[in-house]
Amino acid sequence: MSKKKIVLAYSGGLDTSVMLKWLQEQYKSDVVSLTIDVGQGDDLKKIEQKAWDLGVVNHYTMDVRKEFTVEYVYPAIKANALYMDTYPISSSLSRPLIAKKMVEVAEIEGAYAVAHGCTGKGNDQVRFDVTIKALNPNLKIIAPVREWKFDRNSEIIWAKEHNIPVPVTIDSPYSIDQNLWGRSIEGGILEHPEEIAPKEIWEWTNHIEDTPKEPEYVTIGFEKGVPTSIDAVEMDPVSILEKINSLAGKHGIGRCEHMEDRTVGLKSREIYEVPAAETILAAHKDLEKMVLTVHQMLMKREIDHKWTTLVYQGLWVDPLKKDLEAFINSTQENVTGWVTMKLHKGSAKPVKRGSEYSLYDYNLTSFDVNIKYDQHDAIGFIALWGLPSVTSWNLKRKIIEQKDIEQVQKVTTPQKNK
Ligand code: ARG
Repeated sequence: MSKKKIVLAYSGGLDTSVMLKWLQEQYKSDVVSLTIDVGQGDDLKKIEQKAWDLGVVNHYTMDVRKEFTVEYVYPAIKANALYMDTYPISSSLSRPLIAKKMVEVAEIEGAYAVAHGCTGKGNDQVRFDVTIKALNPNLKIIAPVREWKFDRNSEIIWAKEHNIPVPVTIDSPYSIDQNLWGRSIEGGILEHPEEIAPKEIWEWTNHIEDTPKEPEYVTIGFEKGVPTSIDAVEMDPVSILEKINSLAGKHGIGRCEHMEDRTVGLKSREIYEVPAAETILAAHKDLEKMVLTVHQMLMKREIDHKWTTLVYQGLWVDPLKKDLEAFINSTQENVTGWVTMKLHKGSAKPVKRGSEYSLYDYNLTSFDVNIKYDQHDAIGFIALWGLPSVTSWNLKRKIIEQKDIEQVQKVTTPQKNK
């Protein structure tokens, strides 16, 4: 008789390999492994083989790069998503999609539980657990790291005892998470915010001293808020991200770090490499500034912030996200056009742009033309616009003058002798 099944999100690394065996033993269950390709660039065939070698009863490899880009990264572009003004929420975006696939596979396989490799200290467990609970409340969620008592050493010993291949690169103290939208590096010396991150952690971006001397210009075309072409050549969503990642990475663009507030109450020093995200977000913002009114811009900033925080905090499934997107998508109707970015020595800056929906009007704005905009109108406008502020200064002056008069009276009035 076959045993009950657990679906494990399997990356092929040491932790999830140990988990695979540990679940078989501890839960007396069969394990079905699932490896999701969000563009992390791993050798998926090798991972699958490893899973079979460790005794899974079934394995799934799913290439979700296009779905990830269109359904998860695109909304983040439209929302100019930067958590705490710095982090393009790359890891945050992949979790709800992976969770959704875990649930799908669990339902196909008739599994009673799903398992993931998150620790009890991070945001990822929140993102996985909330999404899984929302999509299928009957599934048990197992996060072995929250349960087992291993430290690094005992985990390696246990792995060797169970014939789990321990990679030679195990010395690397870093926890890395990658997808098309970015790369996060945590752990080891990086947990000391007062120390500069060592050079070896960077993989997607050149050191500034190794970047090209000359700047490079790239034109990103947008349609309704999302990138659709590079240098006027239409490309598929995944290729655009890959191309901009490598182009911007070559120029050392997209390294960022900050002190981050995790959802689980911790502060942590977080480091990212996000060449495409930094470049595309800067271009998108620039185009928005050309086609949206100031009032849309100011409101959107708040909605964007709300959307970003909600997603970072693991609530992808909350209906508020859709509500906010109704506003955001409406603003993106006219975000069609192009922006040329100058890539040079670690920076990606917009240097020219154009759109059929541009609200910029040369005939209105130019110092050289005086046909449409009557400069006399400015006088009346300024009088009313500044009226409250000027009024308050007039009052302030009146009070000071009153005080001065009282002061003078005090000094000049002879005091009675006591
Ligand atoms: N701090 C980031 C976030 O919460 C990155 C998480 C990276 N995850 C990982 N398992 N290394 O989104």
